[in-house]
Amino acid sequence: MRFLNFGSINIDYVYHVDHFVRPGETELSEGERGTFSGGKGFNQSVALAKAGAEVYHAGKISREDSFLLKELESAGVRTDFIQQVGMYTGHAIIQVDTTGQNCILLSAGANHTMTETFIDEVLGHFGAGDVLLLQNEINRIDSIIEKAHARGMTIVLNPSPINKPLLSYPLDKVTCFLLNEIEGQELTGRSDPAQILERMQIQFPGCAVVLTLGKDGVCYWDGKERGRHGIYDVEVVDTTAAGDTFTGYFLACRYQHQETIARALEKASIASSLAVSKNGAAASIPLLADVHAYQDKLPYILPNV
Ligand code: RIB
Repeated sequence: MRFLNFGSINIDYVYHVDHFVRPGETELSEGERGTFSGGKGFNQSVALAKAGAEVYHAGKISREDSFLLKELESAGVRTDFIQQVGMYTGHAIIQVDTTGQNCILLSAGANHTMTETFIDEVLGHFGAGDVLLLQNEINRIDSIIEKAHARGMTIVLNPSPINKPLLSYPLDKVTCFLLNEIEGQELTGRSDPAQILERMQIQFPGCAVVLTLGKDGVCYWDGKERGRHGIYDVEVVDTTAAGDTFTGYFLACRYQHQETIARALEKASIASSLAVSKNGAAASIPLLADVHAYQDKLPYILPNV
């Protein structure tokens, strides 16, 4: 099987701040501005590839930013389906505070120039047995889901960043959701994690749901099998792309390497813990060898429930 990640590519401009800028406030950032490759799509492709998966990225960037292709290729991602267009590459303005938390402002740019012709051209190379991965940073997600489903592809959705239009997409065609509590609440109207998992099974019977819970770790439920994993006690430098690292590693472990739910949750948790201890988005994603090297070595915090 192959992964097709139809997703965003951004350039991230990162500013270290004492606190997030408040309405009406002007704040001076600390140190130099960081410039990194990112985008939820880009990061998840890099994580998949570093975790040993065969991954093709489809998306659009500016003609001027070929360095992004080189970065993907050097991480092991196939770039055959990335078009360079006459529109600026999507970018993100990211504030990182002293606790390593971030807030992100996006400008879609080329990420919102997907056309039906381009979608048909890309999907024509994939079919049953292949896995389509989507986030919510490109346009025409609804159409991509419909067309990929008609081709027999397995569809995985990370509904991030969540917004109203996403709720009307054909989500019944999604096989696996990877989401956080806020996204789970938007999709189900429930805030309690156990209820989110229950409601997801009622709304989308048989789907696999990976629900990340911040400091409470992660839980999993697909209607038959449950999973639970805590977090690791590491120094937090920058949380950007921690979720993307988790997504890429979990999917590579499950779909490419056919590992158990427990093992996939463990490896994805180690990978995202290593990612938060480094600056940047894609640049912070660890290699599989590092994840293996840290297995059983990081201080583990048992989940509450
Ligand atoms: O998930 C982190 C990513 O979100 C950043 O790289 C930024 O580009 C935004 O898409």
